[in-house]
Amino acid sequence: MLRPPETFTTNRLTAQRPRVEDAAAAFAAYANDPEVTRYLSWKAYDRVEPLADFFRARQEDWEKTGLHFTWLLRLRETQEVVGLIGCIPDGGKVTLGYVLGKKFWGRGLATEVLRHLVAWLIAQPEIFRVWAYCDVENPASARVMEKAGMTREGILRRWHVCPTIGPSLRDCTVCARVK
Ligand SMILES: CC(C)(COP(=O)(O)OP(=O)(O)OC[C@H]1O[C@@H](n2cnc3c(N)ncnc32)[C@H](O)[C@@H]1OP(=O)(O)O)[C@@H](O)C(=O)NCCC(=O)NCCS
Repeated sequence: MLRPPETFTTNRLTAQRPRVEDAAAAFAAYANDPEVTRYLSWKAYDRVEPLADFFRARQEDWEKTGLHFTWLLRLRETQEVVGLIGCIPDGGKVTLGYVLGKKFWGRGLATEVLRHLVAWLIAQPEIFRVWAYCDVENPASARVMEKAGMTREGILRRWHVCPTIGPSLRDCTVCARVK
């Protein structure tokens, strides 16, 4: 089973296993904002409790299942919650996802943390493909993936639903780092 580090740091960020008691700060930082979730597979939360439940389930993943690893991201300098990054292993492949609060966009922070995690994952002997997808209308995310060392592979048509936008399946850009 893949055993990623529970904590890591980059130049400006610390990444740590989210604790249930982090849910209120995460809610306020990114998870309650429909502009942030516009192109995501989940809708903005309107209460803290379901987010606490999500963090509880991820704790179980860290401790038992190994199905879905997540890290809460904070600014090293202030300890302010910035966002979340996660990965889902599947055989020799790992899928990544990430989200930052709006006020942290445009500073290179997503690139910084994604680059670190992609490099760590692809260095593991059992991992051959590290990949992610984003909505075709979310070019900032595709750019982040490229800057983090992934290569644009193409478009998966009618691949994911963005519940904030509506129920239809939407086209996605796929990027990957392979070895
Ligand atoms: C997408 C997201 C993670 C980007 O985070 P970020 O920290 O602002 O990203 P960075 O600053 O590292 O890099 C953004 C890059 O996208 C580019 N960019 C921004 N808006 C863009 C647009 N509309 N079209 C094309 N490129 C764009 C920036 O210019 C920058 O590239 P550059 O360094 O070559 O100039 C952040 O906006 C976010 O959390 N959005 C909501 C959640 C989300 O969409 N997550 C991804 C799901 S797949």
